[in-house]
Amino acid sequence: MAYEKVAGRAEIISVHEGHLLKTTTKEEVDSYLRMSESLANVAPRCCYIITNGKLVEMKKCIVCIQNSSKISQLMTSHSNGEFLILKDEGYEMVNPRIMDLKLGTRTHSDYITKEKKENHIRKCKATTSEKLGLRLSGAAFVGSGDSFATKWDKAFGKSLKSDQFFKAMKNFFDVDERQKTEVLRQLLKIRVVLEDSTSHRFFGSSLLILIDDEGQETVKVKLIDFASMARSETGQQQYDGVDTGAILGVNTLIKFLTK
Ligand SMILES: Nc1ncnc2c1ncn2[C@@H]1O[C@H](COP(=O)(O)OP(=O)(O)OP(=O)(O)O)[C@@H](O)[C@H]1O
Ligand SMILES: [Mg+2]
Repeated sequence: MAYEKVAGRAEIISVHEGHLLKTTTKEEVDSYLRMSESLANVAPRCCYIITNGKLVEMKKCIVCIQNSSKISQLMTSHSNGEFLILKDEGYEMVNPRIMDLKLGTRTHSDYITKEKKENHIRKCKATTSEKLGLRLSGAAFVGSGDSFATKWDKAFGKSLKSDQFFKAMKNFFDVDERQKTEVLRQLLKIRVVLEDSTSHRFFGSSLLILIDDEGQETVKVKLIDFASMARSETGQQQYDGVDTGAILGVNTLIKFLTK
């Protein structure tokens, strides 16, 4: 499927077969460079990083190896700035339902202005983020029996009260039981990773959910967007224990899918 972006402001373009180039920040590059194996397993596969003109090999895949000349060209044309070459998680799908749910009860990093922080805090308080640990950021899907695509944007997500949020979830997850069970299985795997990530905070991260009726792999749930995450490294803000806000969000969805 041609890649479709349902949320976010970063520039993300399709590059060679099934890969995306995300223009990002030093912070997100660091998050990928320092990511544990277990976290990397629930995030999109990162094949390469281009950081300040340098190419860093991450988990390069066979397609990237076959397209090594394209990777070299990308490096030359993107010698300024920070970029991730990620696997397009929807590439093998035919017509997936796509949804981005912003995770957690706090979305701001420690490194933004006071004004921006206050804005984030205000948004969390005024939306489902605070109580549910989830906020709808965007979605695109063709509902069963519909001939048109439903598209939900960030403003729609921010406008939802809890009951309306769950109504939206009911609409999105109008899929078969087998697919719901698979969403659940992947969410439980993400929860284990979050519970093992002591002193980490997934500020601003999202759950990206893709559900397809055709194609080979029909369900994918990934943890994405690590631009604002905190790891309590030396010299940085320290956090104790696990990210209870992010775990609350995952639990909200688990509860919804099991009721
Ligand atoms: N690996 C991927 N595969 C498929 N789609 C993706 C992938 N990564 C991102 N997307 C799409 O792009 C959207 C935005 O991604 P992401 O959250 O990483 O960027 P962003 O929010 O624009 O970035 P930032 O928060 O750093 O400004 C997602 O909601 C999803 O639709
Ligand atoms: Mg995002």
